[in-house]
Parts: sequence; structure tokens; C-alpha cells
Amino acid sequence: MTIKNRILLMGLASVLLPATVVAKTVEISSPDGEITVAINDDNGPSYQINFNNQPAITSSKLGMRFKKAQALGEGFSIKNVQQSQSNSTWQLPWGEREHVVDHHNELVVTFSAERKTANHFKVRFRVFNDGIGFRYEVPKQAGLAGNIEIIDELTEFAIKQPEKATAWWIPARGWNRYEYVYNTTDVESVDRAHTPFTFKLDSGVHISIHEAALVDYAGMTLDQQRPGVLKADLTPWSDGILVKTTANFKTPWRTVQISKDAVGLLNSDIILNLNEPSKLEDTSWIEPGKYVGIWWGMHIGENTWGSGATHGATTSETKRYMDFAAEYGFDGVLVEGWNHGWDDDWYANGDIFNFTKPYDDFDIKAVSEHGLAKGVRLIGHHETSGSVTNYRNQIEDAFALYEKHGVRQVKTGYVADGGNIKRVDENGITRKEWHDGQFMAGEYLHSVTEAAKHKISINTHEPIKDTGLRRTYPNWIAREGARGQEFNAWGTPPNPPEHAAILPFTRMLAGPMDFTPGIFDLGFNGLGDKSNRPQTTLAKQLALYVVLYSPIQMAADLPRNYLAKMDAFQFIRDVPTDWQESKAIAGEVGDYVVFARQERNGDDWFVGALTDEAARSVTVKLDFLDANKRYQAQIYRDGKNAEWKNNPYEMIIENKEVNAKDVLTLPLATSGGAAIRFKALN
Ligand code: NOJ
Ligand code: CA
Repeated sequence: MTIKNRILLMGLASVLLPATVVAKTVEISSPDGEITVAINDDNGPSYQINFNNQPAITSSKLGMRFKKAQALGEGFSIKNVQQSQSNSTWQLPWGEREHVVDHHNELVVTFSAERKTANHFKVRFRVFNDGIGFRYEVPKQAGLAGNIEIIDELTEFAIKQPEKATAWWIPARGWNRYEYVYNTTDVESVDRAHTPFTFKLDSGVHISIHEAALVDYAGMTLDQQRPGVLKADLTPWSDGILVKTTANFKTPWRTVQISKDAVGLLNSDIILNLNEPSKLEDTSWIEPGKYVGIWWGMHIGENTWGSGATHGATTSETKRYMDFAAEYGFDGVLVEGWNHGWDDDWYANGDIFNFTKPYDDFDIKAVSEHGLAKGVRLIGHHETSGSVTNYRNQIEDAFALYEKHGVRQVKTGYVADGGNIKRVDENGITRKEWHDGQFMAGEYLHSVTEAAKHKISINTHEPIKDTGLRRTYPNWIAREGARGQEFNAWGTPPNPPEHAAILPFTRMLAGPMDFTPGIFDLGFNGLGDKSNRPQTTLAKQLALYVVLYSPIQMAADLPRNYLAKMDAFQFIRDVPTDWQESKAIAGEVGDYVVFARQERNGDDWFVGALTDEAARSVTVKLDFLDANKRYQAQIYRDGKNAEWKNNPYEMIIENKEVNAKDVLTLPLATSGGAAIRFKALN
């Protein structure tokens, strides 16, 4: 890149650049000065990101192409720049922390071209201490009025020496949506990947590319073109168009998180900071909490969703779960398989689902009243099988029915293969869409805003990826969007030991996940069947509650398996799901991770640590504790001879008095973990 004229912005609010300047670079830095973005127009609009004076993202193109209008990009130059700063703190109604700091410098760059139509657009850059976000803003103008169809977004993320960088990634545009085992390869071997896309440069700098505020736009995947050039590859509509919009439009934020180490990626709020404030004024009805459910029994084949002798969702079985929930402090009971549709080939045809017609052996009124009398709510379930028109036609009645019975949370499901979401268009023609295209971005959000009208929160399975919309729509309480625990029941094969050590650095950067931890019977098929069981120790199942953040956490196993291990179960009973503060303490992607979190509105702290297939010992400084308090550390850790394959249950539970000056050493077994409650002492 030849820089003919470098313009450094130092507190200038708005600069109109002189027409004589031909090609130029404008720069903006993070508040702490470590990250610098340079925007250049030498060969058309491009940007580059430096971290501590080293390139993190090298010169990368900006722009987009339309079906009918002239492209934005090539031939455009920087016309005007506007700079501003912002430093504020805002509150999350529920989350990893209560107070979120948003400290950034902003630069809005206007690009223009000497032509009559489609001749200007803006890119808004925000630079934080932990990364950057940028979005396109395309105003209404001659040549870009009325309906606009985007056929290519030219955004690139270029990486130097991709053969020396390591990436942890899952393929995009596959039949299994986001539910793939993570690949660990050099960046050069990446084909087309989902975001968050996390990689480590040769220097040790960790970077994760994602997006924020994906509304009314296609999800962005990354396609490697020339080696090291990851190009935005938007998921298309069934007719091949990427985005259908009208000017004035804004794209989602393209985000690049940057940290000197792996742990730094985990302590970032960029994605939330780039979303709009809550659209809901009253959020008091949105309830984080813990739940059990008629669920695992179906996955391990003890029960069925459909009717018959082993039907799971019966009135008596639900009451039994309600009693168990009430006795052990759970807020809700999820019931799947309660409504008509499951007896047919539901995976292939979601049109058979009826969302207001319970099976005869499921008395929705009786079970919900039984629960409410004990302070436990029924948690609803809508499996659409991806037949979204069928769902939309019933959604109002479906939520109204649940609201009437005191339901505050509904788990939705979209188990159709990728590219096989069924919608019936305005002409009655059936179309097949992707889970992460623009159409479905709208459909998922529609279910959330409709649910809000009934004071219902949504936990989406087979979702579109999270892009921080929980800030704007706080009743979008959780989602799946990666391989969860269910894969450990199917033998297809199960999640490998490193899976939970990769998730925090990839999927979890997007937001909360309904992973459904807490399987206590690790050998429902016999411990010897390693290909059909959770590949973890018992202590690691407990650690998941702290490591994998979600405001709703399931105790996924059958009640009898908890009753058989009441000592370990105590941790699940004690662990909260809403936090005052969260701190990632240590970790390496795919190896291990340690998190500390403080209970919201409470003094207790919790720690979760877990490892991959390698046993290791982690040292945890307790300096996150309140220096003026003493605590009882209730420690659940792998026993001396524990290992996931043949001895997963050996666990030591011990209590120790500690304070902020102490250091704990936690031995973790192969695919093991540790979970600790620090109970504040008076
Ligand atoms: C897949 C979901 O992830 C799982 O939790 C659910 O039980 C089934 N679909 C059936 O809806
Ligand atoms: Ca799933």
C-alpha cells in the first residue's frame, strides 16, 4: 500500500478533505492506543488493523455489489471523515455482568465516486481496547432508491502468513447447521467457515471475526479465496439474492476482536456494545433460572416424543418432575412431546405440528397448576422442524395458550437440514431457505417479538447464530447454535473431550448457549461404550455450569441419576445463572479454561475449570474475591485416579476457608474439571 497522504485524526470532529488529495489514509486508534485502523482508498476502499504496531488484519477490501445498481467500492475515494469518542456504562437486566463499559473511538468515513448514481456510502468504524467493529451505511440516493438487491458483499479480512496461523472453526452452509465438531487447522486450510471464527497468529495474538446486530440482513460466513483472504460470504435466499433491502440501510457490524492472548478474547463485551439498547422497557418478567425437563429420556431412548407406552410428556410424569423441581430449587420444567405431530415423520414434515393441541395424556391445565402451586413453571416447547409458515400461522394462539397457563419461557426448535427451511411464499409456492439467511434472521426475531407480547422468553434451538441481540431483545434468553450435550446420547459420535475447551473461545463469544449440562449417569449405555456417552468426568459436568454461560441452565439428566449422587448434585442446586461479574482467568483454545463469576445480588463467587483430553493442574489466584471477606471454598474436583474413560466418577468434595490472598491448585483429570462455590462467611 503506497500512502500518498496520511491524515491522522486528532480530535477533529469533522473533516472535509481537500479535492486535491488523491489517495489517502485516515487512521483511528483505540482509547489505549494499542489498536489502530487505517482506512485507505488507493485501490478502492480498504482498511487494515494494527495491534501493537504489528498487522492483525492486512489491507482488506470494502464494498458491495447490487443486482441492478452500480457497485459501491472500486473507484471510490475518501470524501469526508467524522470523528468522535464515547465512554459510557450501561446495565444488563441479566448477563455475565451487570455493568458494561462501552469505551470507544469512532470514525465515520464517507466514500464517494465521480459519477451520477450510487455515488456515495459510509463506513462507521468503532475502535475499542479489545477490538473493532465497522458497518456500512448506504443512504438513499440516485440509483439506489426503492428495492435493492445485494448480490455480493466485498468485505475482506486478510491475514498474513495464514499457513502459520491456527484456526478453530466449523464449516458453513452444511446440512448440520452449526452443529459440527470444531476443526483445528492452519488458516490456509480453512474453506468456508461460520463466525465467530477464531484464530491465533504466529505471534500468539488471538483474533476472532464475527458480527453484531444481525437484523434484516443475511448472516455472514467467511470464504477463503486467495490464501489468507477471508471474504464475507453472505448466506443467500432460495433465489440466490443475498440481501433484499431498501435505502437507507445499514449492515450488521463486522467485528474483529483482538487480544495478546486467548483469555483476553473471553473478557470482551464488543458484541453487546455494538447492539442497540433494549426495546423492552419492562424486563422484570424475564426470568433467568434453572430447569429440569422431560427431555434426556427421549434422547437416550427411554421415552418417546410421540404417543404410546413410553410417551414422556404425560400428566403424571410432568407432575413428578414438577415435584422434583420444587423440592430441589428449580424454576421450571421443560416438556417436549406434549403436542400433536410427533407421531408422524416430524423430521421430514413439520407441517403436521399443532401448537395448541396437547396429547390426551397431557393435561396442560393440571400440570401447570400443579407446578405453579409449588413455585415451578411449565416451560413450553415448539418444535417447528423448520416448517416456519406452519409455525407463523399458529404462533399467536400458541403463545396465548402458554401465557394462559403461566408459561414464561418457550424453547423453539428448527430441526431441518441446512438449506431446508420450508416457507410458503406470498404466491403459495414452497421455498427452501437456510437457517442463517436474511429470511430466517427475520423469522427468528419475529418469534421473539411476538413472544414478548405474551411475556414469554425464547430459547431457540437450531437457531441462527447469536450476534448480541439479547441486548435489544432481552427476552431472547438463550439458544443452541453449536453441538450441545444431546450429541453425547446419539453415538454420532459424541463431542470430543476438547469440545468444551473450544466453545468458550468460539461459539460462546457470540452469547449464551443452552448446552444443557449436568449428565450424572455417564454410562447409560455402559461406560465401555465410549462412542455413545459424554466423554467427560463427573466434575467436568459440574464445571460446565460456570464455564458455558447461559441465564437458563438445565440439569439435563433424569431425576433418579441426581438422587443417586446427591453430594455432587448440591453444586447444581447452589450455582446461580445470573452474574454480577465474570472473569476469564486462564486458558488456551482447545486445551483448558478457567472462569470466575460472582452471583448477581449476592456475595458468593463461583469458579469453573475444565480441560481437554490432557490431564493438567491449574493454579487459580483468588484475587477476584473481596479482600475484606473470608470465604468457605466448597470444592468439587476430580479424584486422584479419575480419568474420563474408565473412572469418570471419582470426585473429591472438600471445604476450605480461603481469602483473596490464597492460591488454589486444581488437578484436572483427562477431560476433567473442577467446580467451586466460594461462600462468603460473615
Ligand atoms: C433438537 C434440540 O436440540 C433438542 O433439544 C430437542 O429435544 C429436539 N430437537 C426435539 O425438538
Ligand atoms: Ca440441536
